[in-house]
This record gives sequence, structure tokens and C-alpha cells, in this order.
Amino acid sequence: MNSSELKKLIEGIPKAELHLHIEGSFEPELMFEIAKRNNKEIPYKSVAELKNAYKFNNLQEFLDIYYAGANVLITEQDFFDLTWAYLTKVHSQNVVHVEVFFDPQTHTDRGIAFDVVITGIYKALEKANKELNISYKLIMSYLRHLSEEEAFKTLEASIPFKSWIDGVGLDSSEKGNPPSKFEKVFKASADHGYKLVAHAGEEGPSEYIWEALDILNVDRIDHGNRCLDDEKLVQKLIKDNIALTLCPLSNLELKVISKMEDHPVAKMLEKGILATIHSDDPAYFGGYMNENFYETAKALNLNKDQIKQLAINAFEASWLSNEDKAKHISKVENYFNK
Ligand code: HPA
Ligand code: ZN
Repeated sequence: MNSSELKKLIEGIPKAELHLHIEGSFEPELMFEIAKRNNKEIPYKSVAELKNAYKFNNLQEFLDIYYAGANVLITEQDFFDLTWAYLTKVHSQNVVHVEVFFDPQTHTDRGIAFDVVITGIYKALEKANKELNISYKLIMSYLRHLSEEEAFKTLEASIPFKSWIDGVGLDSSEKGNPPSKFEKVFKASADHGYKLVAHAGEEGPSEYIWEALDILNVDRIDHGNRCLDDEKLVQKLIKDNIALTLCPLSNLELKVISKMEDHPVAKMLEKGILATIHSDDPAYFGGYMNENFYETAKALNLNKDQIKQLAINAFEASWLSNEDKAKHISKVENYFNK
């Protein structure tokens, strides 16, 4: 397959995105527009200058800019516009199902009410469901650099909106903030009926993946790159069919890998791990779903079967009903058989 054939193949696949931070889809153009209407300053003169600042040596350098960018989001309309822009973009890439993270504390800590944030996001998701036929789940993520007590406050604030929220996650600065720090709030979240996921093994060690599984009881791991350090863990992931939502362009931009050729996803597929590919923070890392598939497939020389497997795995790992999973998977199969 040459580059344009590979691109065309990837574009046509019906895809599911399971690892996407809505604040990480904030494109500089929209950021400037929203900043202007809210009379907020951005410490960069232009879109070009801002984009030029997107050079990261690690997760923390990215997070500092990502939280600063989110500062200009104030009104329900802002959160709606942010989410709608993401959904129309991925619709153009043939993404048919999304499971979207939002970070309430990034906003409530600035005095923006929880209901303002979630209502804007929810209305855009509903509109996309009706008008673009995109199904969705919404995941509220706790910021792990903050305390468990603060996560509990967020859990409390979410209860009136429980019917809009499918699960909770754990993101932000991983090193030094192990999953075990959030044992109680994850237990309480599960008691409220929320599903559980956590970022683990992106920069942190494989022990954090064990903790996410054994202490938090998550049913999916976000990233999980470091699992390959521990064969016993690999065997557990396979046996329990635990999905890893990998984000290759993110890994490259945050120096989790030094070149795309080193990305572990091919090795993971070969071992039989339920590995999937997503975009994480596409506005910051240079690509949405198609670009992540394309750059990975090109660098690792993935064949059609491996690309198909990645597409199927994402539906398999999703929170859709078994019936809906089967429908989507058969569409992927048909696409590759035609
Ligand atoms: N890791 C941790 N926290 C995050 C990320 C990530 O890749 N993206 C947004 N918040
Ligand atoms: Zn992430």
C-alpha cells in the first residue's frame, strides 16, 4: 500500500474514539475567538505564536499549557462550542462513537460552576447524536495532582447530573500520584453507578497499572504503555481482556517514545492485548483519529489485518451494548472485505 492508499483506507473505516480530553481538542483558532468574546488575555500574540509554543519534553510541560488554554472557557456556550467543534471534526473522519473525558476541576477551581461546564458539553453531545448520528459516553476525570478530598467534592457536584455521566477517570500529572491515592473516591464513584477507567503507565511505572486494576478496579487502562515491562501484568491484561487506550501521537509529542517506530502497539497486538488507538489531545499533538492511525500504521508497517484489528478493538473496548458493538464490528468487517 502506498501512502495515499493507506490514508484512504484509514479515512473510510468507521471508528470509535475512547481516549479524548475535550479540553485537549481546543484548537488555537477557537481559543482566540473565545478569549476575545470573553475579554480574556492569551499570553501569545497570534495563533502561529501559540502553536509554536506546543513543544513538550514531558507530560507536565504539556499540562501547564493545556490548563492555561482552558482558562478562557467561561460560559455554557464556550463549552458547547468547544465540544461541537470536536464532534464535527471527527464526524468528517468517520468517527461514529466517542467516549469523551472532561476535567471538571480545571474549571470549578477557577470559579466556573459544574453545571455550566457539563451542560455545554452535554448539549453538544446530544446534538451530535441527533444530527451526526454519533453515539457517545461522557467520562468525568479526577485530577490526580489534587487531593482525594477534592475529588470527593467533584463526585458530589456530579450527582445531580448522574444520568449524563457514564464513568469516571483519572488524569493529569502521573508520577508521584499513584492510583492508590484515589481508592476511596473510586469506590464511592462505583457505588454511584459510574464505570471506572484510569490513566496509568504513560509516564508512571507498570506498578501503577497494577494499582489501577487491583485497587481502583478499573475496567480499562488509558495509555498503559509501560505494561510491557512486566510479563505477569501482560498475561493478566490478556486473561481479563483489559483494553489499553493508546495514543501514539501523544506519546511521541510527550516523549513517552522517542520515535514512532518505537511505539509498542504492534507488539501489544501480537501478544493478544486488547490495544486501541486514540488521539488524547488532538489540538496539541498534531492529529485526530485518522492521523493517529496513519502515522502509526506507516511507522510500524501495519498490515490491513492489524489496522482492522485496531478498529474492531475500539468497539470491543467501548461501553456500547453488546448489540451495538456487534453492529459496528460487522460494519468494520464489511468495509475491509469489500
Ligand atoms: N495524561 C494525563 N493527563 C492528561 C493527558 C494525558 O495524556 N491529557 C490530558 N490530561
Ligand atoms: Zn489522556
